[in-house]
Amino acid sequence: MKRRVLFPKINGIIHGTDYNPEQWLDRPDILEEDIRLMKKAGMTEMTLGVFSWTTYERKEGEFHFEWLKKTMDTLYENGIHTILATPSGARPAWLDEKYPEAMRVDSYGVRAHHGVRHNHCMSAPVYREKVSIIINKLIDEVGNHPGLLMWHISNEFGGECYCSHCVKCFQNYLEEKFDHDIEKLNKAWWNTFWSHDYNDFSQIEPPYRNGEYSSMGLNLEWKRFTTWNMTDYMKSEIAILRERTPEIPVTTNYMELFPGLDYRIMSKELDVISWDSYPQFHNDWETFADTMANTAFNHALMRCMKKDRPFMMMESAPGLVNWHSCNKMQRPGVHRLAAIQAVALGSDSVQYFQWRKGRGSYEQYHGAVIDHLGMDDTRIFREVAGVGADLKKLSGISGTLVKAETAMIFDWDTMWAVDDMRGLSQETKEYPKTCVDTFKNLMRLGVDVDVIASEDSFEGYKVIVAPMLYMLKSGVADKLKKFVENGGHLLATYLTGYVDENQLNFLGGFPGDGLNEVFGVISEEIDSLYPSDSNYVDFGEGWSGHVSDYAEFLRVSTAKTCGTYRSDYYGGTPAVTENTYGKGKAYYVAARLEDAAMQHLFKDMLASAGVQVFPLPEGVERHTRMAEGTEYVFYLNCTAEKQCVEQVTGTQLLTGEKISSKLELEPYGVSVIL
Ligand code: GLA
Ligand code: ZN
Repeated sequence: MKRRVLFPKINGIIHGTDYNPEQWLDRPDILEEDIRLMKKAGMTEMTLGVFSWTTYERKEGEFHFEWLKKTMDTLYENGIHTILATPSGARPAWLDEKYPEAMRVDSYGVRAHHGVRHNHCMSAPVYREKVSIIINKLIDEVGNHPGLLMWHISNEFGGECYCSHCVKCFQNYLEEKFDHDIEKLNKAWWNTFWSHDYNDFSQIEPPYRNGEYSSMGLNLEWKRFTTWNMTDYMKSEIAILRERTPEIPVTTNYMELFPGLDYRIMSKELDVISWDSYPQFHNDWETFADTMANTAFNHALMRCMKKDRPFMMMESAPGLVNWHSCNKMQRPGVHRLAAIQAVALGSDSVQYFQWRKGRGSYEQYHGAVIDHLGMDDTRIFREVAGVGADLKKLSGISGTLVKAETAMIFDWDTMWAVDDMRGLSQETKEYPKTCVDTFKNLMRLGVDVDVIASEDSFEGYKVIVAPMLYMLKSGVADKLKKFVENGGHLLATYLTGYVDENQLNFLGGFPGDGLNEVFGVISEEIDSLYPSDSNYVDFGEGWSGHVSDYAEFLRVSTAKTCGTYRSDYYGGTPAVTENTYGKGKAYYVAARLEDAAMQHLFKDMLASAGVQVFPLPEGVERHTRMAEGTEYVFYLNCTAEKQCVEQVTGTQLLTGEKISSKLELEPYGVSVIL
C-alpha cells in the first residue's frame, strides 16, 4: 500500500485550530501574544475566515482584506500554514436586508428572519452571486499566498429550504429522475393509495408539515433532493476555487453521522474529508469506552468516504464545549487520548475549535486552547502542547492508511427509510445506533472495521456485516450474492431487504431481490417487543443471548440452524442461521441480540473467514495504520484504570521504550508501536 501524504508542505500530522483574529483587531498585544503561544503549543495550522464576512465586507462592495493578509503573513513567517474558509456559513445583515430571498424558508413555508448561521437558501441566485463575489475577492487577495494550504467551503452544511426557488428545483429534479413521465413517479411512489396520483410534476410540493407528509416515496426523494441541492450549492463555490486555484485542495467540515445530508454524495466533490468531533465524554448514560467507540465509528465512517487517503479531524474541543446538555470537562489525559484515537483511525490532523475564547456572545464559554485567563500554564494549554509534542513524534505516520478486512454497511437511504416507515416500534427502530453497536462489537475483537455504503466495492473484504439493511438499491443484492459465492462471509439481521430504492416492498419473501436464496431463509413475520418483553436465543454449545425489540419468525430452506428462540409461540424455531452458499457463508440473525452474543457470533465468523482477532482488556482499543511495509499499531486505554495488553512487541514511538511482551497502559493512556 502506497503512502498518500495530503499536504507535502507540512511534514507530518497537522496540529491546528479555528482562529478568529478578526474578533481582536483592536488588541494587537493579544494578536502578538497569540503567535508566541501557538509556537509554544506546537501548532502548525490555523483555520481562518470561517465567519468573517462582515469583517471582509462591512457594507456591500466595501472590502477589507489587510488584516487577513497580515495574519497569514505572520503565521507563515512563524511556520504556521492557513486553511482558509469561504465565509458563506453566516451572512451579513446588509445582505439579508437587501436580498431577503437569501434566507431560508421552513417546512411550514415561513421565511426565516436574519440571524444565526448556515441557514441560506441553497438555490437563490442572488446568494450564489454574492458568495461568488467574496470568494473571487479572497482569491485575488490571498489565492497565491505560500501559506495557503487548503480551502474550507462554508461551515457545517445542513438543513433544508422550502422556498419557491427550491420547490421549482425539486420539481425539475424529479422530472429528470423519472424521465419526464409522471406516471412513472406515481407508480414508484404507490400514489394510487389515498388518491395521491399527480397529473403533472408542477403539482408536487415538498413534504410541508401542513401538507403532504404521508408519502414515503416523496419524503425520501425530498431528502435525496436536499443533498442534491446542497451539493449543487457547494459545487458553485468549488467551481470558482478549482478554476482559479487548481492546486489548492478543497474540503468542507462534516458533523458525525448527520442525518440531514448524505455525505457520501457530497464527498465526490471534495479532495479531502474532514469532520468535527465533539463526543459527550463522561456522560451518565454509557461507559467512557462506549463514548470513545462511538467516536471510532464516526472516524471510520469519514475515513471510508475516501479510503485511499487520510481524512482530517477538523474540529474538536480543548476542554469542553458549550452546547452539550451538560458541559462536563474532559478529565486529564482524555484530550490526548481522543487526539491519538483520531490519528489511529486514519486522520492526518488534530484540530480544534477554537484557539482563543471570545469575550462575548453565543460561544463565549466554549472551550479553547487559550482561556479568558490568557495564560500558558493552564491544564488545557499543557495538554494541548503535549499533543503538539506527540504529533511531532508521530510525523512518520502521515500518509499511511488503514487496511481493513472487515466491513460494515451503513446507508443514509436506509436510515431515512427506516426512520420514516410506519411500522415496528417508533422508539426502538434505531438503525444508526444498531450500526454503531455492530461496529463496536466487531472493533472490540481487535480488528479494524471499514464503514461502507452498499454501493461501494466489496473487493478486498473477507467479512461484511449488514445490520438492518432494509433497503436494497438496484444491484446491491447481486453484489452481496457474488461476494458470498466467491468465498465471502456475510452476516445480515432482521429487517434486511424489505424494500427497493423507492421503498416498494419486494414480493415473494424477505430478504428480497434474491437474497433469501443466499441466506437460505425467509422472514415470514416480525414481532416488535415492549421493553418489558423478554426472550432469548439458545445456541447449541450451551450459550445464549438476550433478545430485545425485534424478533423475526423464519422459514428455513437450505440454512443450518445455529440458535433457536427460547419462549413465546415461536419458541424452539430458528433465530440464527448459517448457510453455505458457493464458496462462502451467509449468516442470518433474526432478532436484536445483546452485545455479548453478537461478539460471540462475530468471533466465530471472523475465525471461519480467516480474519485474525486480538484479545484485548475491556475498554482498550487496537487500531493499525500502514504503508510501504511499515505498520503502526495503536493501543488506546479508554478506561480510567491501568490496563495491560499481552503479547505486544516493538518500540513505543511516544517514549522510545522497547516492549517485548506486556504493554502497560496508564489510565486513559495511549501507545503507538512500530
Ligand atoms: C461547530 C462549528 C464551530 C463551532 C463549534 C462549537 O463545529 O463549526 O464554528 O460553533 O461547532 O462546538
Ligand atoms: Zn430555497
